[in-house]
Amino acid sequence: MKKDIKTPIPAAIVDRVLEEYQIKDLGKATIREIVGIVNDIEEQSGKKFIRMEMGVPGLEPSKVGTEAEIAALKRGVAADYPMLDGVKELKIETSRFVKAFMDLDIDPKGCIPTVGSMQGSYANFLVAGELDPKKDTILFIDPGFPVQKQQLKVLGYKYESFDAYHYRGEKLREKLESYFREGNISTVVYSNPNNPTWICLNEEELQIIGELATKYDVLVFEDLAYFAMDFRKDLSRPFEAPYQASVGKYTDNYVVFLSSSKSFSYAGQRTAVVCVSDKVFNRYYPNLEKRFGLGVYGKVLVGRVLYSLSSGTSHSSQYALAAIFKAASDGKYNFLDEVKVYGERAHEMKELFVKNGFQIVYDRDQEEPLADGFYFTIGYPGCSGGELLERLLYYGISAIALNNTGSELEGLRACVSQTGKERFGELKERLEAFHAHFAYVDVSKC
Ligand SMILES: Cc1ncc(COP(=O)(O)O)c(C=O)c1O
Repeated sequence: MKKDIKTPIPAAIVDRVLEEYQIKDLGKATIREIVGIVNDIEEQSGKKFIRMEMGVPGLEPSKVGTEAEIAALKRGVAADYPMLDGVKELKIETSRFVKAFMDLDIDPKGCIPTVGSMQGSYANFLVAGELDPKKDTILFIDPGFPVQKQQLKVLGYKYESFDAYHYRGEKLREKLESYFREGNISTVVYSNPNNPTWICLNEEELQIIGELATKYDVLVFEDLAYFAMDFRKDLSRPFEAPYQASVGKYTDNYVVFLSSSKSFSYAGQRTAVVCVSDKVFNRYYPNLEKRFGLGVYGKVLVGRVLYSLSSGTSHSSQYALAAIFKAASDGKYNFLDEVKVYGERAHEMKELFVKNGFQIVYDRDQEEPLADGFYFTIGYPGCSGGELLERLLYYGISAIALNNTGSELEGLRACVSQTGKERFGELKERLEAFHAHFAYVDVSKC
């Protein structure tokens, strides 16, 4: 940073903390490293950042959930081991919820609680990698959630990925088929709405994924961590269109991950549900039998993998989720009313960034403007993601670089969850200061 520029956060403090962390390119830092850097700068400077690096819910947890969970604890469920495949109420209510909000028919048997969607994806990756020795690779439609790739590294599984930015609409077919044709892909993975870009794959694209998954016998892992949060449509009415879009309409080869963390602000209880299609749940794979002594996907997932990982999911929080799903399906609880504030924040925050010389990196869903939601992406002319992130630290703004997410584009992911409207004035001032300093200089010389 140029010495003569006065920045909202004293440059000496930012320089010192960056020096301590010894990270040459912030574009390669993990989210938790950025969190550490920002914590240290805040502590040393006494100044609060506009924190946009971590996707934590910034709202109160769903009351329907906490009340049901407290009642379950008072009944004494904490003393008992829950069944591995989940409590009956949750299984039944999940099946009803996916019918109500996705128009999918999934047997309660295949609706299984996991310790967050993180455990759901880990456990299903583990099984998917053992289905067929020829299919030893998992494919990500990126940009994506970096921790899932870390899970594959822990498992020692291979993966490939491509950036969806260049392959929207019909172009997706050829690209996907070029991978599937090789015969080594067991599973294709994406999140919808997407973390980090908030692009939403549409019905046409989901149909392409579904058709090809059936044709090449590939599993689809559909990660709905931001369930129904495409606020362009009203997805809040149970048993009525429009529904949360899903590949389940176009293939039987799917597993859906329902997280409670964002849509119900229930991240702390680490409870999610994985919904395995009836066909996949009951399917027999000779290679699974060889490896685990059991050949049916659902049985291996529950009786071998989830048993080994955590022997079930917290008993009381399963009742929380069951109550949330029930109230939503009964039309008594509009969970989207509680979280749509994220979309409102994103709308205003994007405007502030754009007015100050930034671009929205992923800005469209084909012809449609992108929805406003939990995340958005920003770039600044002449800056790589890592450079931009470093510069913004001096202005009291933090985010993560897109590099880590499988994006081929330069820029940052900004999360709106920790920035309430009361901080927009400060954000505006800081962005104006940033733009005033950088708009007319050759940034590469700063
Ligand atoms: C795409 C995606 N998948 C999964 C998760 C993790 O969900 P959970 O908190 O239920 O483990 C997240 C959380 O940020 C996410 O963004």
